[in-house]
Amino acid sequence: MPNIQTKKLELIEFPATYHDYQYKYIASSSRGEKLLFTTYQDKSFFLQIIQRDSDFLIKGDKLTRISPVTIIQNALEGFSKLHNLELTFSNIQSKPENNRLKDDLGILKNAFYFTKDFKYDKEIWIEVGFGSGRHLLHQAKENPHIQFIGLEIHRPSIEQVIKQCKLQNLNNILISDFDARVFMQLIHVNSVGKVFVHFPVPWDKKPHRRVISKSFISETLQVLKPNGTLELRTDSENYFAYAYDTLQSFEKFDVQIRKNHDLKVTSKYEDRWKRQEKNIYDVILTNQEVSKDKVFTNFLTFDQDVDFSKIKNKFTNHIIRGDDYFVHFEDIYEIDNNSGIIKLSLGAYEKCEHKYLIFKDNKIQYFPSVLLPIEQNFKSHQKIKEFLYV
Ligand SMILES: C[S@@+](CC[C@H](N)C(=O)[O-])C[C@H]1O[C@@H](n2cnc3c(N)ncnc32)[C@H](O)[C@@H]1O
Repeated sequence: MPNIQTKKLELIEFPATYHDYQYKYIASSSRGEKLLFTTYQDKSFFLQIIQRDSDFLIKGDKLTRISPVTIIQNALEGFSKLHNLELTFSNIQSKPENNRLKDDLGILKNAFYFTKDFKYDKEIWIEVGFGSGRHLLHQAKENPHIQFIGLEIHRPSIEQVIKQCKLQNLNNILISDFDARVFMQLIHVNSVGKVFVHFPVPWDKKPHRRVISKSFISETLQVLKPNGTLELRTDSENYFAYAYDTLQSFEKFDVQIRKNHDLKVTSKYEDRWKRQEKNIYDVILTNQEVSKDKVFTNFLTFDQDVDFSKIKNKFTNHIIRGDDYFVHFEDIYEIDNNSGIIKLSLGAYEKCEHKYLIFKDNKIQYFPSVLLPIEQNFKSHQKIKEFLYV
């Protein structure tokens, strides 16, 4: 993260402007850490000012990080100029470009895209953990009328598949790096034809990290159309037995088991297991139900203002834990008597969200973005409201 360091810092009055950068207000925690709300064009983020034993560290705040990084570098440069700082360290000079893919060609989409802009005009097939992408690319080529969504958390694999989409001229793949264990909640019910989970990490020592779980199966059954399938392919007898057991608590589906069935395309993993003469198992689940639309009775916003000074008095660093969600009230920052910021992490244990809650101008808002409409976030949001309003 770009940062600058200085021995002496006397903060000027905010708001202040330097070229296109606006430094709007500053919020301070009791530990002496400060957040400076900064905007550049339509982007906003915090600069963090930390007083250390013998100097000050000023850097881009990780949680509100934006790209390209040059925006943060320039914001730090503006901060330094406005304060006439004598820097003892700086890494804000642009570095030579590294090898990373510069353009995701509109293929890599964030989770919000799937809640707002994703088009449901074609049948959808989803591949979870596509790795090298051989199966995903093959299926996309064979089925140009299908919209594919590839889920993967490993950045180099994502970049490799984006490059392949360009080389092979494929325009029916979108990719998300959102954790597959909670992704299905972002997708409309009864809209997906197939979900592939090929050779997921077996996590024999940490089974809670497995993609397949009761909640994943339940959420996948909801997004599948009637006769839509969830196909698990694995070389791990343990995983196969675990998946089969997990299915027993569901009704209204049909299950088919196959052993050593060849597919038209094999992945790197499959090639390896075949060379080792391992058995390959398929568990194919066919959904037989039309799912009801998800109706949320609660919204992820705040309809009542609060007295920030009261919140400040009762604030402690604490965690509320539910069965599948949590809220961690991490820190509080004061802007003035009536406004401030709370730092939080919340949501599903598998996919927590890190947010600030800004109390300002009689509004309470999550920052840098609203919460995603997934069930665990609704539960966490409810707990936050109870904390604020009770
Ligand atoms: C063993 S590899 C198999 C890759 C590919 N399916 C194949 O057959 O070659 C498992 C892949 O799942 C990805 N993965 C693991 N957990 C995931 C999650 N929660 N969400 C999305 N992808 C995940 C990993 O990054 C890895 O690339």
